[in-house]
Amino acid sequence: KEEELQLKNEIKSLLVKNNGVLVAHYYTAGVLQDLAEETGGCVADSLEMARFGTEHPASTLVVAGVKFMGETSKILNNEKRVLMPDLNATCSLDEGCPADMFSDYCDQHPEHTVVVYANTSAKVKARSDWVVTSGIALPIIEHLAKKGEKILWGPDKHLGRYVQQLTGADMIFWPGSCVVHEEFRSVALERLKKLHPDAAVLVHPESPEQVVQQADVVGSTTALIKAVQNMDRQEFIVATDAGIFNKMRQVAPGKTLIEAPTMGEGATCQSCARCPWMGMNSLQNLAEVLRTGQNEILVSPELAEKARVPIKRMLDFAA
Ligand code: 13P
Ligand code: SF4
Repeated sequence: KEEELQLKNEIKSLLVKNNGVLVAHYYTAGVLQDLAEETGGCVADSLEMARFGTEHPASTLVVAGVKFMGETSKILNNEKRVLMPDLNATCSLDEGCPADMFSDYCDQHPEHTVVVYANTSAKVKARSDWVVTSGIALPIIEHLAKKGEKILWGPDKHLGRYVQQLTGADMIFWPGSCVVHEEFRSVALERLKKLHPDAAVLVHPESPEQVVQQADVVGSTTALIKAVQNMDRQEFIVATDAGIFNKMRQVAPGKTLIEAPTMGEGATCQSCARCPWMGMNSLQNLAEVLRTGQNEILVSPELAEKARVPIKRMLDFAA
């Protein structure tokens, strides 16, 4: 606790010294989320993180999250310095979608509009027509489907299938998934629901189909937090990374939050619904990058220019 307080104080003064602001995702450690808010930064879903960075006047953005979030910030703010606590914090969706292979797949389907999830590299984004996050995927696909466009979607197959089922869009899919959300188990969830018949089930759309089908609310991290805050229920079963409970507890302190069951439930699994890459962010490495200026995210101006187009398209659509 003493060390934590010292580090927090040091980070606060280093942020001021560096004209920096901390932008954190809801899956990072609670202490980082709270520090971001205390210091005038934000804790948010990936769509709001991107937008916050463009609107804040700080010259250094410190992004506590995973690499694609830092890259998106850099692409949108080429003049700003973007630092991340750990450059190895990646994402299974990003890892499972190498740019050269994805580009070949797009080349094989030239008549398709390419829509990629934000959880991808700058190069994959640069090959796309649209970037979407979970918070905006549905209305964007709806919009494209209405125009009669055929869609090549990548890389999250679960989110892709979810929006395809709701919109009836003509879509083909790159086969990626999130290793964290893949762990949620539908049969165990059915059993848990029987034990808590009045609980609302909240599910992130990166989860498998049979889990999504049992949901009362399917949405981005922000949407799930709003559901806990606004729904007239006392109990919630939550199928997403457990980091989200920090904000949920703050906005709805009297409510009961239950983790949805994962494969390792009841056994030794300590980390199934905890993204290992989000977990790489800590007070220690955050302080270190602010002291040294290491771990700067760099994206070449040519690549950033190409990748900015589909990201801006998303932000303009969302505005
Ligand atoms: P959100 O856009 O809902 O915050 O999701 C990002 C993510 O990585 C979920 O696993
Ligand atoms: Fe990627 Fe899944 Fe981690 Fe989100 S939770 S950053 S989708 S691996």
